[in-house]
Amino acid sequence: MSTSFPDGFLWGTATAAHQVEGGNVNNDHWEMEHAEHSPFAEPSGDACDSWHRWADDLDLVAGAGLTTYRFSLEWSRIEPAEGELSRAALDHYRRVVDGCRDRGLAPIATLVHFTMPRWMMHDGGWTGPKAGDRIARFTELALPALADAEYVATINEPNLMAVQPVIGGMARRGEEIKGLPVPDQGVAEALIGLHGRSMEVLRGAGSPPAGMTLVGLEYIDEGGGAERLQAARTAMMDQFLQAAAGDDFVGLQIYTAQRFGADGLIAPPADQQTLAHGMERRPEALGAAIRHAASVLPDTPLLVTENGIATADDADRIAFTTDALQSLAAAIADGADVRGYVHWSLLDNFEWMLGFTPTFGLVAVDRQTFARTPKPSLAWLGEVAKRNGLA
Ligand code: FCB
Repeated sequence: MSTSFPDGFLWGTATAAHQVEGGNVNNDHWEMEHAEHSPFAEPSGDACDSWHRWADDLDLVAGAGLTTYRFSLEWSRIEPAEGELSRAALDHYRRVVDGCRDRGLAPIATLVHFTMPRWMMHDGGWTGPKAGDRIARFTELALPALADAEYVATINEPNLMAVQPVIGGMARRGEEIKGLPVPDQGVAEALIGLHGRSMEVLRGAGSPPAGMTLVGLEYIDEGGGAERLQAARTAMMDQFLQAAAGDDFVGLQIYTAQRFGADGLIAPPADQQTLAHGMERRPEALGAAIRHAASVLPDTPLLVTENGIATADDADRIAFTTDALQSLAAAIADGADVRGYVHWSLLDNFEWMLGFTPTFGLVAVDRQTFARTPKPSLAWLGEVAKRNGLA
């Protein structure tokens, strides 16, 4: 099996604004985190204080030998009130992009990673009649920060957001988790429309290569499940992939598999569930989901914009990622056009409704001092990057 990767393949790691910046008091999530009967385990608070410590974070990424960094812009900072631009916030993100370039990192910038400003939450949200004009205007406002990015992603995982439209999270705490339910079709279509509006602005401005990122799954028929499997995959993957035809790239974020039988989704056995979301530990889902995306969109470059595992056992993170990368290398050897691999996540961060308990990071963060402590997996991934392959 081939374990090397194409020339120029990007290797990196990702964060998202609300999960690491801290103090994002003006977005929908902050409000929901503090609501009575909040489904959030705890509030995001100062998160990892990356709003101030972003340069240290970039030093860690570049210092390890990685070549790309994915991060997101926080809409509620750039447009704190409708139509009101914060030049200071915009400059911040421009400095992050420049900071990446200064360190030899290719910046991958995401415009919307689940969060929206409070003013939008209270006036129609993602599905309201003004959402299209609003994302177009936000994209326009953000353009000066994006010019030197390597890739721009419009919306992070609209297919997952359509499953949980407001929260954009994953697990509903306290419930038996049987995998992801299917998306709400109205929300799916609304978000695909918003992606289109953002793309129009990006294209009109001659932006760097642009597209969206999707959560990707491996789909497994355990016998008699073909029909259910197909319906789920069409709703969750194929309609979004088809909407991405003609984009410059598609980002895939792959963590797990879903199994189907005659009665529908089959929950993974408890000993196969990963700590964070009750999802099956299934590293080879990476190659499988990439193969499927490549079969639907043979002419569109793919990027792995997230892949990882929440575990306190860093050796297992390395084992998981090794197996995942084996499956990715095999998919590439069989013809999938994949341009890079971005690990989720750089830091142990705010994992949405689950709070700070799940640890996806290559770097641990002290919750009191914000001190960063790299785990062995960071150096390990850096070596993979330098070698452009597995040992
Ligand atoms: C993805 C999200 C990301 C993170 C990982 C674990 O769905 O894009 O923010 O929560 O899952």
